[in-house]
Amino acid sequence: MYYSDDIVEEVRSRNDIVDVISSYVKLQRKGSSYFGLCPFHNEKSPSFSVSPTKQMYYCFGCGAGGNVFTFVMEYENYTFPEALKMLADRAGISLPEQEYSEEAKKQRDKKTAVLELNKTAAKYFYCMLRSPQGARAMQYLKDRGLSDDTIKRFGLGYAGSYSDALYRYLKKQGTSDQLLKESGLMQVNEKQGMYDKFWNRVMFPIMDVNNKVIGFGGRVMGDGKPKYLNSPETIIFDKSRNLYGLNFARTSKKRYLLVCEGYMDVISMHQAGFTNAVASLGTALTSQHASLLKRYTDEVILTYDSDEAGIRAALRAIPLLKTAGISTRVLHMEPYKDPDEFIKALGTEAFQKRIDRAENSFLFELSIMELSYDMKDPDGKTKFFQAVAAKIAEFELEIERENYIEAVTGRYQISFEGLRRMVMNVLMQGVPVRKAPVRPQNRTEKEDGIKKSQRLILTWLTEYPKLFPVVSAYIKPEDFSDELYREVSSMLYEQMEHGEINPAKITNHFTDPEQQRIVAQLFNTEVPVENEKELEKAIQDTIRKVMEHGIEQRTATLDPTDIAGLQKLVEAKRRLQELGRLHISL
Ligand code: UTP
Ligand code: MN
Repeated sequence: MYYSDDIVEEVRSRNDIVDVISSYVKLQRKGSSYFGLCPFHNEKSPSFSVSPTKQMYYCFGCGAGGNVFTFVMEYENYTFPEALKMLADRAGISLPEQEYSEEAKKQRDKKTAVLELNKTAAKYFYCMLRSPQGARAMQYLKDRGLSDDTIKRFGLGYAGSYSDALYRYLKKQGTSDQLLKESGLMQVNEKQGMYDKFWNRVMFPIMDVNNKVIGFGGRVMGDGKPKYLNSPETIIFDKSRNLYGLNFARTSKKRYLLVCEGYMDVISMHQAGFTNAVASLGTALTSQHASLLKRYTDEVILTYDSDEAGIRAALRAIPLLKTAGISTRVLHMEPYKDPDEFIKALGTEAFQKRIDRAENSFLFELSIMELSYDMKDPDGKTKFFQAVAAKIAEFELEIERENYIEAVTGRYQISFEGLRRMVMNVLMQGVPVRKAPVRPQNRTEKEDGIKKSQRLILTWLTEYPKLFPVVSAYIKPEDFSDELYREVSSMLYEQMEHGEINPAKITNHFTDPEQQRIVAQLFNTEVPVENEKELEKAIQDTIRKVMEHGIEQRTATLDPTDIAGLQKLVEAKRRLQELGRLHISL
């Protein structure tokens, strides 16, 4: 859905950032800004600032920053449209309805109807569990150690003991057979017609990230088969794109997410306080799951069952997570089978210890690889290390390769130099190295310094608008060295030419939180100065630095036939000389 700049800006300007953030973080006024403890990293003294004039926040500790949309997106883990919706509601603004085609409208109405039906079914199961009919199911859940709170939080229920109870209940409410069929709640059989898919089972509603019930799992109470029945895929339920428990885990504020196999594992972990646990529900983790996880975290700890199937699942998941940009560790559950059993047997603290000691996924992969080599035989050992070297050679950065070589020498009997040479050999033979996007690395200090100077210029402009005529005479948006910096500076110049200063509005133009963070950094850069005189000196020096660099950059890229460009360059050089006579006064 596309929203116009006007509506986005209206929603932003009607949600004062100090008001909004105050409802999440305790803020105290200090000078022209508010300060509090940063909600995005752990800290003891406040380095999180919110500026009412800029309508932006910035953390001097961890670099988190942006406007009110960024904050809501980061804090609530919302997408931009979700954040926009929430803030529009908060300000009492109704967002324009999207124009749907006939077909799309039908599709949307059908989805709404199935969601509504699932909600009704979930409520029905929930009530059944609490009725006399549900007594045995309730006892079953209690025997499995679940508290009343947990049962309620996860909306657990019971599908009655008749195979058409839900069918009759929904029919009485006037639901059409067609809709019932689409919902996945019913089964159709030529002889019996339509009847309930779930009966005499404990019910686990599956919710999406917005807490909407999209499907169900039902467990037999005891040893019957199949142990779990699950909703089939429907118009709203796509198993490869949903993770059980993510609706709660996404706001857990932990650095990592715990990924396990089953319903009961998620529920036990949450009950024990590990509210960052999710499950892929018995199906193998997909690349869509991996990108979904990446929306919420950069690190996953796999807490799969300790049996062979669990190990195989972990080996499959690790490369998928890596491709999505997630680093993975593997938790060892031995001698227990799964998190539920482990926590029941050894408790929360022991589980936390296992989390802390979870193994790096690369070393985990090696320990499994090792099993297929005869490590007592010199030949077997050589082959193993060759395989290890080939695997290390896949890392694109030298520093990564060296770190892994070091990790391997810490665990296996091989010297750093020995293994390094083997890795080098593999690399020389030109083993296909996975193509990965080239990451900017080894950025020189000089480049960082220039960028900081450029950020300072933009920060000062918003803080001391009267600098604008001077700064804009010397520095043009094209003098900034980064595409994003250039875009932001030309938007700021444009605003300032019209006497407006609204950095938060500029942030609207970027919907990626990472870009928003950089924009916030652009308007929140500082240098230590003692007094106004030092500040004036710093401003003058910084203007010179940015100008010199801009000229250098333009010289390097100038097309010799571009006469106008050449003239501008000559003019810029002349101005640079003039700069010595300039006196900045605040
Ligand atoms: P498990 O067999 O490990 O079940 O399957 P569990 O989660 O430990 O459950 P309890 O403790 O025995 O009750 C892991 C997951 O695989 C899926 C379910 O999502 C289950 O939670 N599964 C398993 C099925 O879908 N059907 C089955 O018959 C078994
Ligand atoms: Mn299990």
